Order: sequence, then structure tokens, then C-alpha cells
Amino acid sequence: MCGIVGYIGHRDAYPVVLKGLQRLEYRGYDSAGIVLYDDKDLKLSKTKGKVADLKAKLEQEISTNGNLGIGHTRWATHGQPNDVNSHPHYSNSGDLVIVHNGIIENYDALKKELKTRGYKFHSDTDTEVLVNLIEDVQVQEGVKLGKAVQIALNQTVGAYAIAVVDKKKPNEIVVARLGSPLAIGVGEDEYFVASDASPFIEFTNNAIYLEDGEMAVVRRGKGVKVRKIKDDALVDPYVQELQLNLEQIEKGGYEHFMLKEIYEQPNAIKDTYRGRMLANKGIVKMAGIDDNIDRIANAKRILIVACGTSWHAGLVAEYIFEDLARIPVEVEYASEFRYRNPIISENDVIIAISQSGETADTMAAIKLAKEKGAFAFGVCNVVGSSISRETDAGAYTHAGPEIGVASTKAFTTQITVLTLMALKLGKYKGTISNTTFMYHLQELNTIPDKVEMVLQNNEHIKAIADIYKNARNCLYLGRGFNFPVALEGALKLKEISYIHAEGYPAAEMKHGPIALIDEQMPVIVIATRKGHYEKVVSNIQEIKSRKGQIIAVVTEGDEEVRDLADHVIEVPESMESLSPLLTTIPLQLLSYHIAVMLGKNVDQPRNLAKSVTVE
Ligand code: G6P
Repeated sequence: MCGIVGYIGHRDAYPVVLKGLQRLEYRGYDSAGIVLYDDKDLKLSKTKGKVADLKAKLEQEISTNGNLGIGHTRWATHGQPNDVNSHPHYSNSGDLVIVHNGIIENYDALKKELKTRGYKFHSDTDTEVLVNLIEDVQVQEGVKLGKAVQIALNQTVGAYAIAVVDKKKPNEIVVARLGSPLAIGVGEDEYFVASDASPFIEFTNNAIYLEDGEMAVVRRGKGVKVRKIKDDALVDPYVQELQLNLEQIEKGGYEHFMLKEIYEQPNAIKDTYRGRMLANKGIVKMAGIDDNIDRIANAKRILIVACGTSWHAGLVAEYIFEDLARIPVEVEYASEFRYRNPIISENDVIIAISQSGETADTMAAIKLAKEKGAFAFGVCNVVGSSISRETDAGAYTHAGPEIGVASTKAFTTQITVLTLMALKLGKYKGTISNTTFMYHLQELNTIPDKVEMVLQNNEHIKAIADIYKNARNCLYLGRGFNFPVALEGALKLKEISYIHAEGYPAAEMKHGPIALIDEQMPVIVIATRKGHYEKVVSNIQEIKSRKGQIIAVVTEGDEEVRDLADHVIEVPESMESLSPLLTTIPLQLLSYHIAVMLGKNVDQPRNLAKSVTVE
């Protein structure tokens, strides 16, 4: 959470940093700030609110430019989102300025100590403590900024990606990371620093991703010097060429990123299996699996750890892995798993699913499982992300950047990758026949076109959204492979429209949620033909007899549910195990339209952030 960005070079820093903050706003958006160096002094401006509010403020406040600047967009952890707690933060002398993504856990003890030495604090943040600690080291030990940052960081406990500038040394930015991502864009005599590459992709494709525990001094005209924070060892930085392009991170004519990303799903799913699956030849190639096939196929148990939407993809994967590869699977919330002394052995394989590849709890869960000898496999979208580097092997989803905070294409591409993995393992273990394997591949190959067909129902779904937009509660029901889809549908509605929604396995409804049903309650039921159809039809009847309003997602041509339901949304026929890739789409669109109709900020829902790098 929180996005940081910085620039040092020959351009005006202001537009670069401001646009960078707009691109990073998905990481947090409760306050924003910027500091620029104009050859004489640091000019700082910050405000509660979004980057647009900062821009409005800056137009009045900042009269100068300069070609060094750092900025921040915040998701509050310590201290309310207000002007004072916004970043950047000055040190007491006013010479140092910092932006920080992460949490300094021992900030209280450090603050007390600094207070005894006369330091004053104006905000409630841990970050202001860190910048003063750096200043204190400079004063006490008479060292340069880079060294002072290093010594100070070695006294901290917690997580950080930071950028620090010193008014007395206006030709450098010092950055460091532990637990929060940090990329350095390397241009011609200019450098960019940012939480991800989106702020600098229009200027350069060359990037250095700092590893955890590394820091860098980025000097105008002199390059980048990377070293280990702990032992001071110099590191030869690896400059990576990025494949990202600007178009991928812009809205491309859509009103919201979320809608664009929903519509990108046919291609995103194709991109996920392109180069990996040759459906007609019966080939699935996945380097991460191929290179470790015995280790993974012989696992006594697969543990899936994830959070949010990725956790729902994990639940779908549980059904798929057990069905095809016959390996027992447990799906865990990473945040619970890491703190409950789990029983893990060397025979376990842990699969971490994460769009961002940065989620702190998921990262911690992997570290824990690795310590106990498990083999760690990552399913991430962001290339080069922390989780993709921490795991022993992995498979990227290749969905392209997902910017809308509510996850859409990440979910369907995660399911696609996990299906390929299960098929590959099933084939290798002999738990599925060649015919079943081939059939799955061919069916998977038809999914992008079928998703396209579901998207054509958009206007119909919008009309349904209009009828139910004022509902106070919603229930989502599904069974089997579509139970996790019900959870995901409910999550989407909660996240962006703030309507209370719950997902349930359809049969469990009678153990509680049925008490909620009355004529005010819309119930969204996934009732595809192959998935326990008759049972779900009975559940629908139970709802109808209590006057609930039924919106059913059904297989094309369905008559029975159509007669019972108030509204139906059709999806093309498919194998049941692949149906989540289709049934999810109308639920995404339904939430999207309701949120838009209610005037909510779809791409940046309140209190949420895309990348949760704090516990
Ligand atoms: C946040 C996002 C969700 C996401 C979850 C896990 O809560 O708002 O959309 O599903 O984090 O993120 P990850 O990047 O690990 O998939």
C-alpha cells in the first residue's frame, strides 16, 4: 500500500512525479504529496485526498519546478489520513525529506529515544520518526546521507520502500527496500524511482528491481550504486528490459479501468495459455512445473495461500487439483496460516496466488512454509514481484497490468494457470486419461470466445443492475466449482458498491441465511446445467417460496430455472470445471453497473488498496 515515486535528471520533475502518482494511485488514495528541489530549496506540498486534489493545490502553491522531486500517495496505517500525516515528511532541521511505503514497527521506541534528544514530531506517523532517525545518525556520526540511511534502517524493525533527499545534496536520491517493492528506471542521464514501473514506462524500458534488504544511491550523472543494507556489500545491479507498454496502463476509451479489465478477459485468458498449451497436439509446457515435476506431483499435500480474490481462485483450484491430479489440497487465508503454527512438512508444496506478488501476508506465509522445508510455487501477475522472486518456481498469469482495485482479470487468469497446472500434473501422475486431458485442453481453448459471448449480455446485465441497485443486502449462492464464484461475486459487490453481500454454498443456505430471505432480498444463484443442477433448482424453489428475488446465471437454453427465476443471465455451455471462467463475468458486470449507478468510485473504492503490503 502507498505508492512512492521520484525523479532526478534533466526534465521538469513536477509533471513526471505527478503523473507517476496518478499511475500509482491504485496503491492508496487517502492523501498525496510531493516535494521538488528548485536549485535553492525544497518545496513541499501535500494534502488529504486524491492526487487530483494535490494537483489543484499545487497549481496555487508551487511556483517553481526543478529537476529533482519525490512524491507519495498514501493508504493510512499510522495516523488518520489528514494533511499533517500525509507524506513527504521533513526532518526537524528541514534538510531531509522522505516518502515511505510500509510500517516501521518499533517506531514508538525510536520516537521516545529521539524525543530525549530534543526531536519534535508533528504527525502521528512512523515515517516522521524514520526521517528524524536518519538525521540524528547524520548529526551524531557525521556521515553522508546514504550511510546515515543505512545505519538508521539497521535500527528499524518493519517493512519499507523509501526515497530520501537531502537539501544539502541536491544531486541524489537515496532509496531502500525491505518488504515493499521498489524499482529504479534507468534512462539517459536520468533516473526514476517508483513502487512499480508504471510511472516511468513512457521514458525508459530499463529497470533495476531492488531486492529485499538492498538500498541504492541514485546520483545525477553518476549512476546507481546498490548495496546490502545489513552488511554493506556492493551489489552489481541487474538492469532488466521491461515488456510493459503505455497502452496497457491507460484506460483506452473505457470509462473505468475495471470495465476495461473485465473486457480484456478473453485476451487475458488467451495470453495466459498462449505458448503453454497446444490444444490439438495435447501439449502443456510450463517451465516452473516441468523443471520440478517430481517434487510437485509427488507432494503429499498442496497448501494454497492467498488473500482476497486470489483466495477465491485458490478455492476453485482446490476443486480442480483434487479432481484432476488427486492431490489433497488445503486453501488457507495467508493471514491466518502464518500465525497459527501450521503443520508443514518437506513433502508439502505451497502455492501462493497473488496478483500483485506483494501481499505481505502471502509473502510471510511462503517464508514460513519454506523454512519448514516445503517447496514454494508462485502464481503471480506482476513480473519480478517479491512473491515471484521468493518462491522456488512459478507461473505468471500474463494478464497484463490490473489497475482497478477490484480484481477481475487476475481471477480468471489465475484459474486458467491453475487449471493448466492441474492438467499437467494429472497427466503426469496418470490420474486422468489422455482423452480427458485432451478434452480439457480443447474446451479451455474455446473459453475466450465464450467469455466474449457472455460480455455481449452487458446491456441485459445493466438493466438487472438498475432494478437491484438500491438493495441493502444480497445473497450469492453456488455449488461445487461455482461456490467460490458466489464468494467472489459477493466480494465484488461489497468492494465497489458498499452493499452488504454474502456468498454461500447453495445447500448451506438452509442452515442460516434462509432466515434473511424476504421480498427485499435479491439472491444471485449460479445454476449451470452440469453443476448439481437439480439440487440447485431445489434451492431456488426454497428461495422462491420465501419470496426472494432470483437472478440466476444459467446455461444457454435453460428452461427450468427460467420459469422459476425473476431474471436469468445465460452463459455458454462448458465443462463444469471451466464454468467459473464464464459465470464470474456476469457477476463482475453486475457489481460494476450497480456501483456506477450509485455514483461510487469504481476504480478506487473507499478504504481499499490494490496492493496490501502491510499485515
Ligand atoms: C487487496 C485487493 C484485492 C486482492 C487482494 C489480494 O485486498 O484489493 O483485489 O484480491 O488484495 O491481492 P493479491 O495481489 O495478493 O492478489
